[in-house]
Amino acid sequence: MPAPSKPISADSSRRWFLSVKSRLRHLRSPRSSLLPIDHHHPREWSHDNHGTPLHPSGITEATATELNEILQQRLVSLVDLRLTLKHIHWNVVGPGFMAVHEMLDDHVEGTRAAADEVAERIATLGGIPNGLPGFLTTARTWDDCSLGRGVVEAHLGALDKVYDGVIADHRAAAEAAAKVDPVTEDMLIAQTGKLELYQWFVRAHIENTSGELMSGDARTEIEAAAAAATASPMAKRSHSRSLSPSLTHTRRRFEACVIGHPSPGGRSA
Ligand SMILES: [Fe+2]
Repeated sequence: MPAPSKPISADSSRRWFLSVKSRLRHLRSPRSSLLPIDHHHPREWSHDNHGTPLHPSGITEATATELNEILQQRLVSLVDLRLTLKHIHWNVVGPGFMAVHEMLDDHVEGTRAAADEVAERIATLGGIPNGLPGFLTTARTWDDCSLGRGVVEAHLGALDKVYDGVIADHRAAAEAAAKVDPVTEDMLIAQTGKLELYQWFVRAHIENTSGELMSGDARTEIEAAAAAATASPMAKRSHSRSLSPSLTHTRRRFEACVIGHPSPGGRSA
């Protein structure tokens, strides 16, 4: 019969813990890989054990630093876009809801994949990609989407402006990358093509039969949302049947859906 085990004292369990800890010490990662992320300097480099920066051969440290600065801003933009698309997916209402609700999930998936690709390119170039929520809010130069629950035309009018900003910045990033690294340029060009396709899908919902956007020449997201909501066939129908006193009423109802203050502009970085 086995002897009854002795009760373990706090002292002996502490001694056991310290001895295991010291035996495992050699298994710890090198200190360089345990450094915290510097949220204000996302260009920080990974190095090997000899202090050599880790990046593909043929890319100089200066080039990789320059590319990572551009790519980090694209990562912020894409992660923000993905969250904004989900916000719209959850809050869009009215005729056309299901088509738009489902379409947006495709955009979310494509944007998630693009963000992943950009982050992994940063890591490949020896940088440390940062897509953490706290960093996003300090690195971006635009406000959150100002719409809460809103009709299809309002949300898509605003989303068209969002895509304007993201696409313009992606094109500019591809142009800058072209001067130093065709691989990064190629990635950004392919992503820009996808973003432009998504914008076309959005615009197809807010065009009239003459091919003009219901949001007209609105400059900001909030202006575009108001213009598209007011010009929507539903708003016009209710106006002609006198169910609503005027289009001003539609615009007032739209404004009641707006949360917070209007965004001052697009989401160009
Ligand atoms: Fe969903």
